[in-house]
Amino acid sequence: DWNMGSFVDQAVQAIREQVGDKRVLCALSGGIDSSVAAVLVHRAIGDQLTCVFVNHGFLRKGEPEQVVRTFRDGFKMNLVYADVVDRFMDRMAGVTDPEEKRKIIGNEFIRVFEAEASKLGEIDFLVQGTLYPDVVESGTATAAVIKSHHNVGGLPEDMKFKLVEPLRDLFKDEVRALARELNMPEDIVWRQPFPGPGLAIRIIGEVTAERLEILRDADAIVHQEIKNADLYRKVWQSFAILPAMKSVGVMGDERTYAYTVGLRVVSSEDGMTADWVRLPYEVIDAISRRIVNEVKDVNRVVYDVTSKPPSTIEWE
Ligand code: XMP
Repeated sequence: DWNMGSFVDQAVQAIREQVGDKRVLCALSGGIDSSVAAVLVHRAIGDQLTCVFVNHGFLRKGEPEQVVRTFRDGFKMNLVYADVVDRFMDRMAGVTDPEEKRKIIGNEFIRVFEAEASKLGEIDFLVQGTLYPDVVESGTATAAVIKSHHNVGGLPEDMKFKLVEPLRDLFKDEVRALARELNMPEDIVWRQPFPGPGLAIRIIGEVTAERLEILRDADAIVHQEIKNADLYRKVWQSFAILPAMKSVGVMGDERTYAYTVGLRVVSSEDGMTADWVRLPYEVIDAISRRIVNEVKDVNRVVYDVTSKPPSTIEWE
């Protein structure tokens, strides 16, 4: 599209002027905003940009591989892949409180990011995927609280980077159009919102390696079936939840005692309010059958039929 083409040319020009011959850092999450911002900056200044991708271990199935494939292999970016899965798992031992989980993950994330950044030598700029609504919103106190609650990637004051924010004038749908203009893969263009602390806040109770594996497998089935039903782009979010709860079931003539998986599918404009999606029964049925058949140690699937408010979209 002509408008986006000229937007790219102008943005590239502006980034080059701002950055000069200095080096630029980006925290890449695989989400659409940081991804588009990174690709745009890369188009402008190439190897002056280094991206850091932190795998904390709470990502969805196949996600770390997809990020590496897309940005390192596809776009040929300098990508530092920090695999800190063990470190994060250690820190989560015995933690059950949702805000405690968020705080630990947020703090650890910043530590890892700082450590990786300090290995790279002198860097003057940091890329942020700030959109126009973020710029406007951050004027209000409530918005600031919501942001600090929801954004894991916030960096401490003493990391003195100048910001490169190439998406500051854009709305979400324009970022999607831009992503297509930049030939980004559909998986990233249409990715649903995903919380910074990831699967750690979708396991209700303690996060263990076993529970993570169960949730990741169940969530991958939800993803596939929602895609098969052509609903992935139509809903706001669709995912699995794992409460630390077991119940009785029967398989063959054996009694089972295994986990329950929660299915959460919501429609929303902005995440502030949401309604549960009236999924066709066949879709719920296909998801339920596949999860109990294919995921070990699960014998029950329930569908969350509450809206926000009074519920929230996530369970923690
Ligand atoms: P809730 O559960 O509050 O979620 O209705 C509203 C939207 O925010 C996302 N969310 C988060 N995003 N870090 C994030 O980056 C978080 O800790 C977090 N908690 C919730 C949620 O997925 C939904 O889109």
